[in-house]
Amino acid sequence: MSKAFRFHQHGGPEVLRLEDVQVGEPGGGELRIRNTAIAVNFRDVLVRRGTHAVKAFPSGIGMESAGVIEAVGPGVRDFAVGQRVVCVAGPDAAYAEARIIPAARAIVLPVAINERTAAAMMIRGMTARYLLKETYRVQPGDTILIHAAAGGVGQIVCQWAKHLGATVIGTVGSDDKASAAREHGCDHPLVLGRDNVVERVRALTGGEGVAVVYDSIGKATFEDSLRCLRRRGILASFGEASGDPEPVPPRLLGQLGSLYMTHPSLGDYTATRAALLETANDLFNMVMSGKVRIDISKTYPLAEAPRAHADLEARRTTGSIVLTA
Ligand SMILES: NC(=O)c1ccc[n+]([C@@H]2O[C@H](COP(=O)([O-])OP(=O)(O)OC[C@H]3O[C@@H](n4cnc5c(N)ncnc54)[C@H](OP(=O)(O)O)[C@@H]3O)[C@@H](O)[C@H]2O)c1
Repeated sequence: MSKAFRFHQHGGPEVLRLEDVQVGEPGGGELRIRNTAIAVNFRDVLVRRGTHAVKAFPSGIGMESAGVIEAVGPGVRDFAVGQRVVCVAGPDAAYAEARIIPAARAIVLPVAINERTAAAMMIRGMTARYLLKETYRVQPGDTILIHAAAGGVGQIVCQWAKHLGATVIGTVGSDDKASAAREHGCDHPLVLGRDNVVERVRALTGGEGVAVVYDSIGKATFEDSLRCLRRRGILASFGEASGDPEPVPPRLLGQLGSLYMTHPSLGDYTATRAALLETANDLFNMVMSGKVRIDISKTYPLAEAPRAHADLEARRTTGSIVLTA
């Protein structure tokens, strides 16, 4: 048995309930891990709310946790009881003391990476990596715009983009968050709701606009994001913290300068074991070399997951937040 969060209907943080669940033995190709640290990603809020509706109730929640292998299923090679691993994988069941995971999605942790850091950084850091190196390949001298620059993904994007030689413009929700973004490499933090983002971006780029906008806020920022791009720039719309934007006729992309638009997902950039390991190893190297610092602004005991959700969706957090089991 394990304590695990489940929910029986979509709704606010209060629908999350800590229940006793049977974990059982791992099947073929599976591992059972005892979690020590569990990520709280904004995605989990969207799943709980129903923006990303679950297939059936009751449902577990969370895709990312780090811990220690306590049982290895039949046919699994390359893993052993006692190894420390991190896993980014469904089905949603990570907010738990123990869980079964597919071995194909487990990654053994380097000695230098502790489990809390691992839980704080894998989804967020692997997302930052594919956005900067694959969705659009950031070049030295590029100017980029990242929304929610003080958040979990945002802080990593700022640091990594600086390492790639870019100038980083970021949006944040407050002056305190502007300081947090600046500490992580954001050259020009702009405060949403106060600064005119389009005007400021045009002024900072000599009127040209940015090469790429990484937009995870959605409805509230989407149109401005398009208007911040340079000719033939790319909008990577990779999240909807404020809701889904209105539909855009393709012709508008032409009118604004032959723009490109994509909605990338981490799963599509790490679909194979080789892609997963390449992405994870690149991230580990960036963190172990000190080029990217993982900021865990707050940890909560597992039982306080609803409070963690309330803080995240009320925009009270910076960096990553983690549950400890
Ligand atoms: N597509 C993918 O592959 C992928 C993978 C991972 C994450 N994501 C997305 O990336 C984003 C960042 O994820 P994260 O877990 O690191 O979260 P996060 O950035 O730490 O938290 C979300 C931030 O969004 C900003 N925000 C602006 N308007 C908001 C609103 N109406 N409601 C809530 N937040 C609002 C807030 O920052 P300010 O107060 O500073 O504005 C808030 O702190 C999320 O949208 C997530 O869904 C996408």
